Amino acid sequence: MPDTDSQPYPRFDVVVVGSGAAGLTLALRLAHSGQRIAVISKGALAEGSTLYAQGGISAVLDADDSVEAHVADTLAAGAGLCDEAAVRHTVSHSREAIEWLIDRGVPFTRADGNEGDAGYAYHLNREGGHSHRRIIHAEDATGRAVETTLEGLTRKTPEITVFEHHMAVELIMMADDDEPRGRCRGVYVLDIKADVVRTFAADRVVLATGGANLVYLYSSNPHAASGDGIAMAWRAGARVANMEFMQFHPTCLFHPQARSFLISEALRGEGAVLRLADGSRFMPRHDARAELAPRDVVARAIDAEMKRTGQPHVWLDITHHDKAFIEKHFPGINQRCLELGLDMSRDPLPVVPAAHYTCGGVITDLAGRTDIAGVYAVGECAFTGLHGANRMASNSLLECIVYASAAAADIATRDETLEPLALPSWDESRVTDSDEEVIVAHNWQELRRFMWDYVGIVRTTKRLERALHRIELLRREIHDYYGSFRVTPGLLELRNLAQLAELIIRSALDRRESRGLHFIRDYPHTLPRAMHTVLSPEPKRTANGGFGVSYRPL
Ligand code: FAD
Ligand code: SIN
Repeated sequence: MPDTDSQPYPRFDVVVVGSGAAGLTLALRLAHSGQRIAVISKGALAEGSTLYAQGGISAVLDADDSVEAHVADTLAAGAGLCDEAAVRHTVSHSREAIEWLIDRGVPFTRADGNEGDAGYAYHLNREGGHSHRRIIHAEDATGRAVETTLEGLTRKTPEITVFEHHMAVELIMMADDDEPRGRCRGVYVLDIKADVVRTFAADRVVLATGGANLVYLYSSNPHAASGDGIAMAWRAGARVANMEFMQFHPTCLFHPQARSFLISEALRGEGAVLRLADGSRFMPRHDARAELAPRDVVARAIDAEMKRTGQPHVWLDITHHDKAFIEKHFPGINQRCLELGLDMSRDPLPVVPAAHYTCGGVITDLAGRTDIAGVYAVGECAFTGLHGANRMASNSLLECIVYASAAAADIATRDETLEPLALPSWDESRVTDSDEEVIVAHNWQELRRFMWDYVGIVRTTKRLERALHRIELLRREIHDYYGSFRVTPGLLELRNLAQLAELIIRSALDRRESRGLHFIRDYPHTLPRAMHTVLSPEPKRTANGGFGVSYRPL
């Protein structure tokens, strides 16, 4: 039986789980609708991938650009798997999304009459897959500018209550006469500093928890990216899609003190080229678009060259630009490199691919609604259909703003207030404090290592089957541990990552073709018909924790 004392907080109309670009946009957009909003974040409010975003946000801003061109580029990068309605919806709202950010005070870099100033008031970058300069940015630290601006506004908005160092554990699902799957009525949250699980009651819960990229040993992402929202939604009965499409950013720094520090694609947009140790360029041999080919192509080419030559990294060379240009366009990256003893105006930088972005996620409609009544998903944890088999650079922050705005409008318009329910408290009656934390630390390492080795940029059926076997063992061990010990942030993240790893592996095994980010040697060709991989937790979920797999044609 549940415990009775889990110290509930006051009831909220909306609980937003996650405080990156998606979560904070949603909270701020909703704030004037009269709803009581809680924003919970497992770290400090600003911490998350958004804070580290470099290149910028893609949008149709320049008079020479068009919605059609941005749509066409996104569809091409997505390798036939984008949902065109989602792409059009996103791109046609891109200018409005940027104007909203500018009105909020985000200090985007202004045009100064030089290259990249195509008649628009702000400077626009170019990145892989884009046929036009259309990336609005704040120097090379766009995410910091967006996140800290939204953070400042959130803290000043009285309708929003912020809970930092609070980690969502599980959605609270209750029976509902109108909803066969039940309805979400809140969320259990670990108050990390007080070390207690609290019950947050809410009419609606918004998942804005970011991606699952820490499932790999090397990732450009900060610590938050453990796929918590996707795992919670899955456990509560929501379908997820296209989890096999994990994006590796081609150019992360290869350095012992800064492994996986991102070197923005905007460098390649300014003419940086990739070289081998002998100084030769290799991208033109792999793709006519060379260094500005979509990310999947560039990452795969680097991986192939590293394997062919036995070198631990390749080189990114921007030395054709002088110091002044680099200091002006890439001040943050330049500063970090100088701290590490690397002068990018003189020497090429050693770079390798690292896990960067989760293209799949919780299936939503254009308003961010999931399969579960009362639950929305926005940002990187959602699958909207925008990215297809490969996300085009800088389309992610755009997706965060556009879909968070749409979800806020949907929530405000519906304005459904439910009868309060007595919710069961978190049950800790059968668990004790762990005396074996080493198991959590060990399993984190093991999981991320075999995902890197067996489920990486180039896959084979044999390696995927090996990974599936490992993850099944690991998940059983984690399940036993979870049933015996009180929850800690490390254990919750491990449990979620293991769940995500299984979803990724099963999706990868089920795709018998190579497309976009999913390249499998046993099936090197692309099938004529593009299909989403839709996993549904329903058929077997109560029996043994397994699930059925079903397909939805594009
Ligand atoms: P995040 O910003 O990751 O925020 C997730 C939030 O959820 C955090 O607040 C976290 O604490 C919270 N959270 C997670 N789990 C829980 C839990 N269980 N309980 C409570 N809170 C939780 N995209 C672009 O479009 N342009 C770029 O230039 C760009 N550059 C990038 C550079 C780097 C280094 C990285 C890592 C990513 C980059 N991306 C870029 C991708 C983009 O930044 C992310 O996809 C986007 O910021 C995701 O935003 P989000 O709001 O969905 O999640
Ligand atoms: C970058 O600046 O290269 C990252 C852009 C992105 O991930 O969209």
